[in-house]
Amino acid sequence: MSDAARPAYEPVAWLDRRVRLLDQTRLPAEERYIECREVEQVAEAISSMRVRGAPAIGIAAAYGVALATRAAETGSAVAAAERAAARLAAARPTAVNLGWAVARVGSAVRAATGDAAARDAALAEATRIHEEQRAADRAIAEAGAALLPEGARLLTHCNTGPLATGGLGTALGVAIAGHRAGRVAIVWVDETRPRLQGARLTAWELGRHDVPYAVIADDAAATLMARGEVDAVVVGADRIATNGDVANKIGTYPLAIVAAHHGVPFYVAAPLSTIDPMTPDGARIPIEERAESEVLAVDGRPVAPAGARARNPAFDVTPAALVTAIVTEAGVLRAPLAASIAGAARGPVA
Ligand code: MRU
Repeated sequence: MSDAARPAYEPVAWLDRRVRLLDQTRLPAEERYIECREVEQVAEAISSMRVRGAPAIGIAAAYGVALATRAAETGSAVAAAERAAARLAAARPTAVNLGWAVARVGSAVRAATGDAAARDAALAEATRIHEEQRAADRAIAEAGAALLPEGARLLTHCNTGPLATGGLGTALGVAIAGHRAGRVAIVWVDETRPRLQGARLTAWELGRHDVPYAVIADDAAATLMARGEVDAVVVGADRIATNGDVANKIGTYPLAIVAAHHGVPFYVAAPLSTIDPMTPDGARIPIEERAESEVLAVDGRPVAPAGARARNPAFDVTPAALVTAIVTEAGVLRAPLAASIAGAARGPVA
């Protein structure tokens, strides 16, 4: 993305000895930044979803490990990095980018000799992860936009824009780049209950990028598809198993079923860092269960009777058979996905 095209907001940034995050829980009402000086503040920001989206939490956590090495007493940068990596990796379970990013920074720290070198190595690796994500997003956007017909009407779920990646975004990057190239006419934005990432964040980002959109109730997606008003579904991913099963925000799986029923292509846009070489299929992906209160209240206001119980799985798994293609920075992976993934995937971190 050229500087002129960069949005005037920065979801994750390293400032000297601080990790600065745009607090996504306050959007769209308020653009407020928080500055984390301690690992615990970064971990809290990830758990409470002040920063969210698989790549963005990885980047924030990577900077969090760098922060820990700087706060460490002499002679303990490696131990501090290891403690921080363990704490941050546990902040949310489903997005594999989180554990992957802190493991990368941990390896870089262990390979350095002495505390000063370890600190430099940690920050350099975290910065590299962030830069690589920006480059991956650009490549994904270009490859994804090329798949779309002229004047496409896209449907997306959750939030996969710059807020979620620290770059241009994955699925939303495809929408933004597609619109710039004249291929995307409108984006239907699932509101994405219960946290409303679509209505709150995706709508805000599409507005900032001048992409036409309309927010729809999650339940309206099938009706729009039945009426022939959706040319493609494009979503992100939190973890992709080596067989091509895809974990993403709860509500993605039903979208894939409906898309298959109506013959609408279902694209997953994700960097290679989201493919987990250690997870053979979707059944092994840990699914985060969040607080019941997220379902029982909207914007903090209760909508269910006092004492009502809820279930709140935050992600679901779409079987590989329902995925038309996975758009990565290494190209478009198609069926058989297991073989395409094996040809493209990253290896485990040393
Ligand atoms: O719970 P969230 O908001 O972190 O969930 C985010 C998603 O499910 C995104 O679709 C996914 O992380 C891909 S972000 C490019």
